Amino acid sequence: MVSLLIVSTAVLVQELQKKGACEHCQPDKSAWVEVMNKYKLTVNGNALEVDVAPDMPLLWVLRDKLKLTGTKFGCGIAQCGACTVHIDGVAVRSCVLPVSAVSGPVTTIEGLAQGDDLHPLQSAWIEHDVPQCGYCQAGQIMSAAALLSNNSQPSDDDIDQALEGNYCRCGTYVRIRKAVHTAASFYNADKRNG
Ligand code: FES
Ligand code: FES
Repeated sequence: MVSLLIVSTAVLVQELQKKGACEHCQPDKSAWVEVMNKYKLTVNGNALEVDVAPDMPLLWVLRDKLKLTGTKFGCGIAQCGACTVHIDGVAVRSCVLPVSAVSGPVTTIEGLAQGDDLHPLQSAWIEHDVPQCGYCQAGQIMSAAALLSNNSQPSDDDIDQALEGNYCRCGTYVRIRKAVHTAASFYNADKRNG
């Protein structure tokens, strides 16, 4: 009885092998093939195309494909702010934004200065010697830049609110706040001087 069962199982396996596959017991290999698409992006004013999976987070595209490593990976779940970039001037967390959902020009920390002219925030950051380890600072500056573009005279509360999702393990918050006020004064002086 047992040997009959073994023989019939062997015959069944042979039959399946001849047929090539059983749709219920063979893995669907098509699911393993990563779908790649071409996406047109404008990053820091440069129009470019990347060939990546649609669900690849923008952060990976920036860092791994475009080698723009100023934007950092912290948590990967939109909780720390290290990966903040601008899409159409709005601060977004690039670690959770699929490249297929990018709907406007992207600006990263590398694109904030105009050639050799630093953004007022970058000058103020230097003046106040803000960074310690520096890891969070690109994200802090990008969030602050989005704030200043909408509010050129932010109060302490405005600054705290705009940057509340940007964490700094080194505790540079007091200097960040001072630097944002200084940048705002540069900003407004620039506007007055035309
Ligand atoms: S890495 Fe994106 S919010 Fe932390
Ligand atoms: S400067 Fe070190 S985490 Fe912010």
